[in-house]
Amino acid sequence: MHVLITGGAGFIGSQLAEYHLDRGDKVHVVDDLSTGSKENIEEFLEKPGFHFDESDILTWPGLDKAAAWADRIYHMAAVVGVYRVLAEPIKVLSTNIAGTERLLRAVHAGGWSPQVILASTSEVYGHTEARELREDAPLVIQSGARSRWNYAVSKLADEALGLSYARKHGLQITIVRFCNTIGPRQTGRYGMVLPRFIAQALREEPLTVFGDGTQTRSFCDVRDTVAALDGLASNPASGGEIVNVGNNREISILDLAKLIIRTAESASRIQKIPYLQAYGEDFEDITHRRPALSKLIGLTGFRHMWSLEETVQDLLDRARNRVAKVV
Ligand SMILES: NC(=O)c1ccc[n+]([C@@H]2O[C@H](COP(=O)([O-])OP(=O)(O)OC[C@H]3O[C@@H](n4cnc5c(N)ncnc54)[C@H](O)[C@@H]3O)[C@@H](O)[C@H]2O)c1
Repeated sequence: MHVLITGGAGFIGSQLAEYHLDRGDKVHVVDDLSTGSKENIEEFLEKPGFHFDESDILTWPGLDKAAAWADRIYHMAAVVGVYRVLAEPIKVLSTNIAGTERLLRAVHAGGWSPQVILASTSEVYGHTEARELREDAPLVIQSGARSRWNYAVSKLADEALGLSYARKHGLQITIVRFCNTIGPRQTGRYGMVLPRFIAQALREEPLTVFGDGTQTRSFCDVRDTVAALDGLASNPASGGEIVNVGNNREISILDLAKLIIRTAESASRIQKIPYLQAYGEDFEDITHRRPALSKLIGLTGFRHMWSLEETVQDLLDRARNRVAKVV
């Protein structure tokens, strides 16, 4: 199979590349390395069947050719991460929307219908009161919303573009709403909580919990995520559908911090930091996020292989190995 991955030097994209290379597929990655890194794909560069272009999806000259070559496309390239979204409120809208539009135009121009997975986010559920996030629920984003919501707005536009290309041109496009993915190669640099906690616990520094820590999240291991994406792309019934991809086990951020301290056997304590201090005025948090998974399971029969405890242990082991290799 020929697989094109935009944003393939990022966290989820590089895991997708590894997954497909392991299956003997040919993989073409394009990434501008804005939040991704060469290090994430270093081990693939010498592999036969792997090709990397360092380029911006908005201007990449190879897009039309790659889109026509691919049997499957994962569109992961986007401006992401809460720090980046707050710092770049215009770029998040322009890059995410224009990048998706350019990709879809190229797919349509290619004259046939590869399997396309478009990355969206549980952030589109916005100010919802629902405890469980269902794909068919009405979405609530307040008018004049803070720029923190620009990311969700950009991804909603991507969803609408994807669904419109699917309906109007009969393309096989599936929208996936990721919900707090975790695992190897994720960086804490742009605001992701788990890598930050792991690094703090290993340095025996305080784990910085933003807000009171009672907000809950549901974390899904990226190795489960890529298997779910493969299952969705392989099933033609997923075409034109929006599907949550995540885990439905909820944990509070305070309990997550405690789990990491316990597993790492760290002497770290927990330090609560008000949101205003952590992110500035343009931020507001959502209290709960648990994806409904019945649609994903119905389309793929998907079952999680990784528990949160196993992922935390694995990430601690990897981080300690990295330190041991350097010392
Ligand atoms: N990780 C999560 O929990 C999560 C949650 C919701 C949605 N998502 C979505 O999943 C996708 C992958 O996210 P991730 O967590 O792997 O983040 P990431 O930052 O690691 O990956 C995004 C990749 O896109 C690249 N990129 C950004 N702008 C680009 C451009 N203009 N041209 C080419 N490449 C560009 C970055 O360098 C990076 O490698 C994103 O679309 C993101 O919005 C992720």
